[in-house]
Amino acid sequence: METEIIRIEQGREGFTEAEEEALLRAGRIIKEGGLVAFPTETVYGLGGDALNPGSSRKIYAAKGRPSDNPLIVHICRFKDIYAIARRVPEAAVKLAEAFWPGPLTMILPRSERVPLETTGGLDTVAVRLPSHPVARKLIECGGGYVAAPSANLSGKPSPTLAKYVIEDMEGRVEAIVDGGEVGIGLESTIVDLTVEPPQILRPGYVTKEKLERLLGQVDTDDPSMSPEGGGAPRAPGMKYRHYAPRGSLMVVEGTPERVAAYVNRQAAFQRAAGEKTGVIATEEMHGQYGADVIKYIGSRDDEESIARNLFAALREFDDENVTIIYSESFSSEGLGQAIMNRLLKAAGHQVIQV
Ligand code: TXA
Ligand code: MG
Repeated sequence: METEIIRIEQGREGFTEAEEEALLRAGRIIKEGGLVAFPTETVYGLGGDALNPGSSRKIYAAKGRPSDNPLIVHICRFKDIYAIARRVPEAAVKLAEAFWPGPLTMILPRSERVPLETTGGLDTVAVRLPSHPVARKLIECGGGYVAAPSANLSGKPSPTLAKYVIEDMEGRVEAIVDGGEVGIGLESTIVDLTVEPPQILRPGYVTKEKLERLLGQVDTDDPSMSPEGGGAPRAPGMKYRHYAPRGSLMVVEGTPERVAAYVNRQAAFQRAAGEKTGVIATEEMHGQYGADVIKYIGSRDDEESIARNLFAALREFDDENVTIIYSESFSSEGLGQAIMNRLLKAAGHQVIQV
């Protein structure tokens, strides 16, 4: 299949006439059962009509994703939540007022209108109202209910730039909307409101602390955070190996001096054995590492920068054929919880304390 690439430059300050036209065309593709990848404020999504079972089947096929892994339904107006959720609890209204449009997904009881193909056979549905203007316009033009997983091939890091969507999805979807770099860089927080107390199934930009300020006690679904948690994670997607670069990734924990000493010793040894080595580092450590490829993803205190740059760094190691990667460890407070969740999954929970 020929994939049309649609470039949107003006997205944040309104659209030109040509851009409006292109987004209308992209919306029509979705309405007619095709797939369009598009930017959101978190990561790029791979969109199809959430109410069309055939579209959801196509999404699974394009990603190479197991079909028991449910999709998030994206809407562009709050009131549309009532069409896809059987019941909308008070807590959902409160969260929407505080965090929508934005990087928060809520799990609610599914209405009959949403096919089981979209929810992976579950009787619940995931709903999100994104803030990215391109996403909102496309959802509107696409009929109002757009199922969209992250626009990567299953198992790869979620795309934060259109070039990675093109790499994974060209030839597999009708169109890709290039709206530049995303703002946040990690997928939305998922909170399950069908249980009491509400439960975080995937940490993200909207932190536990922020949710608790509104809702009181909020739990976290543990198995998705650690390999030893026991039991199956309640977000089916969290059980799959994820975000992984092709090279082997290890997180190194300890004081900055010890981490640098360990990484440098190991990297020298691995290079001598013919490996290509890489490091994920904070700005504070500039010049401290000896390895083939070093990615500085932000200052240690600037969690937003670390979140935004992490997935791209993992992809770049693949582009540069790095075979062994070491990463510094980050604080797991606030947004750090989401950062460490993704990093540990990417590393297959290989952590070494030095
Ligand atoms: O930021 C995001 O959420 C991005 C952008 C594109 O919006 N989307 C995204 O979708 O990350 P995806 O499909 O890559 O991840 C969705 C996660 C999966 O782990 C899935 O198992 C979980 O949400 N999920 C979806 N529906 C669910 C449900 N009804 N119950 C529990 N988990 C659900
Ligand atoms: Mg994903």
